[in-house]
Amino acid sequence: MYVCICNGVTDRDIHRALENGDRNFRQVSKSLGVASQCGSCESLAREIIEEYKLQASPQTPFYAAI
Ligand code: FES
Repeated sequence: MYVCICNGVTDRDIHRALENGDRNFRQVSKSLGVASQCGSCESLAREIIEEYKLQASPQTPFYAAI
């Protein structure tokens, strides 16, 4: 699903960024460009990041780095 139309960023792209080390909205925005133009995608991107954090298990790289 496209999250950021302006930059062609999908929810999978956001998940991949989190798996590769991004830890919050600011880092995801910096690495993928989410919300860097019109900004209408920010709330959805934040929701996706928070959902990912809640689903992260102790075995995932994201959880281990917190
Ligand atoms: S939809 Fe993401 S910056 Fe416009």
